Amino acid sequence: MSAAATSPKSPRQLYQIAKRHGMWDPEQIPIAEDRPHWERLTPGQKEQLLKVCALFYEGEVSVSDTLAWFIAGMQDADRRVFLTTQMFEEVKHAEFFHLYFRDVFGEVNTAAYLVPEYRGVLLDELKARGEAIGRALLSGSEEELDKAMVIGFTHYMGIVEGGLAVTGYQYFEEMLGSRGIFPRLLQGIQLIRADEGRHLAHGMDYLRQKIARKPDLAALVRHLFWSETLKIPARTEVVFRPNDFGLSRIKMMTLAYSHIKQRQHECGVA
Ligand SMILES: [Fe+2]
Ligand SMILES: [Fe+2]
Repeated sequence: MSAAATSPKSPRQLYQIAKRHGMWDPEQIPIAEDRPHWERLTPGQKEQLLKVCALFYEGEVSVSDTLAWFIAGMQDADRRVFLTTQMFEEVKHAEFFHLYFRDVFGEVNTAAYLVPEYRGVLLDELKARGEAIGRALLSGSEEELDKAMVIGFTHYMGIVEGGLAVTGYQYFEEMLGSRGIFPRLLQGIQLIRADEGRHLAHGMDYLRQKIARKPDLAALVRHLFWSETLKIPARTEVVFRPNDFGLSRIKMMTLAYSHIKQRQHECGVA
């Protein structure tokens, strides 16, 4: 068991860390330096890299737009404080990718990459989770709010951040890091990844506490993890059409499964 799992940082501690380390500025990264690397890629490699970046960009915009519901529904004051840093960071992540498209890839219709395998989980269903939190909050029912928050956290922090994004970072590592190319993109990813580590730690800690207090909620969480796990093969396939970087499907799918399993352990449902 990792140290993080045995002694999770409190929301206040995560907030303090965010203040000290989450203040990087996407505009300070000389992104345009990556352009010669982009020009040297084959058309198939360009398409594969664009796909991963477009999905990240769309995902970051979507989580930025949805997080306000989670802050509104959060009953714990310290957690609300932490979530304000998360909101700021998600906006910056979207900004990093926006600048990257502007300075390196050029004009790209990123929404065109939102195929059904990703559109639901990143946009439509996430939005619905947020709206469900809003409705539960207005209903005044503590039970409904707990349910909507736990499902929302499982979707946002468990699946989107804790399954898709953490697997996505490895795509950058396999495509670019292993070849020593695109240093500025990798620099941004490394900074985003550090921020996301806090979002994930907080999210799993929240779920673990909630489920420990109300074990009835575990079944809902387990079901959502299970239904999203079934979608891993189809989601992986999207990123392998084309596969001009020559990535290993088995390796990437195994990684995706292991992340979801790890999240279930962290929130106490496996
Ligand atoms: Fe993010
Ligand atoms: Fe995040």
